[in-house]
Amino acid sequence: MSYRRITLTHYLLQEQRRLGRSGAFTALMHDIITACKMISHEVNRGAMAGNLGTAGSENVQGEEQKTLDVLANDIFLHMNALGGSYAAMASEELDDVHVVHGNDGRYLLLFDPLDGSSNIDVDISVGTIFSVLRLPENANPGHKGAFLQAGMQQVCAGYALYGPSTMLVMTTGNGVNGFTLDRDVGMFFLTHPNMTVPADTKEFAINASRARFWEPPVKRYVEECQAGKEGPRGKDFNMRWVASMVAEVHRILVRGGVFLYPVDAENRKKGGKLRLMYEANPMAFLIEQAGGAASTGRERIMAVEPGDLHQRVAVMLGSKNEVERLVSHHREFDGG
Ligand code: AHG
Repeated sequence: MSYRRITLTHYLLQEQRRLGRSGAFTALMHDIITACKMISHEVNRGAMAGNLGTAGSENVQGEEQKTLDVLANDIFLHMNALGGSYAAMASEELDDVHVVHGNDGRYLLLFDPLDGSSNIDVDISVGTIFSVLRLPENANPGHKGAFLQAGMQQVCAGYALYGPSTMLVMTTGNGVNGFTLDRDVGMFFLTHPNMTVPADTKEFAINASRARFWEPPVKRYVEECQAGKEGPRGKDFNMRWVASMVAEVHRILVRGGVFLYPVDAENRKKGGKLRLMYEANPMAFLIEQAGGAASTGRERIMAVEPGDLHQRVAVMLGSKNEVERLVSHHREFDGG
């Protein structure tokens, strides 16, 4: 019975009262929620609305853009500009920052409008990732320097998952809560309060086709998992790879696990695959708030000082004891 549950709006108002905040934050979240609902609608309509296939363009990172990448980016930019909460925004699909003119917004919004978009045409879950920062005092919102803050500075982060149901999972630094969209009512309801990541797991996720490029500590970790009961871990592991980080992180928040996209011999020049500011940082914030850990293997992800908006980074996140094991393997390999 959804009417017995609290809505995302109620949850935000409760948080606003509890923390003695102004309504600015609630308004800001409201725009994100509306944008996610609209993107969910477009993803759901799929081929019926001509939303599949490629847009015939490339983003700043030289990746082919899907029709829905472009549409989701436009929706997010437009909806979040209307409310006046943001001074500027930055996205995976935009070369430079997008200044929101004509308001006195005090926040900055970073987002990946449609993560895992290679999955769209095959009807597998995709998602939107967002991260909110404060506009630093006297900073120029039109300059990317305003955005270059470590993940620890995030005010709020989350994702919308467009799967069998649409969910919005978020943190403001006070735990992690998950909300499910009731399409008929048009609202998100709290269905997954206080999400937590168990410290141990029997599930890992990595793109194993890249094994030949891995560094020895990653190879060692995966081989130990694959050795199962007879190996040093003394238990059997299962492997998953959706190729959609939002879906992987959601699985980890629901039942534990570890997700790895390491820097390897092939992607090292670029610094890895996943983007720090709008993929790794928001996911690291959620995972840490749920009691898990998020590291590059050598450093806490949220402590990485960004040098660029589209900077890439190694990602190892999820169940705490697994991430600690990975960090220890890297330390040993580096001779520490
Ligand atoms: P994109 O947003 O460009 O579709 O990137 C998807 C990301 C992430 O969601 C996923 O975990 C990873 O890239 C998949 O990488 P592989 O192509 O190596 O499987």
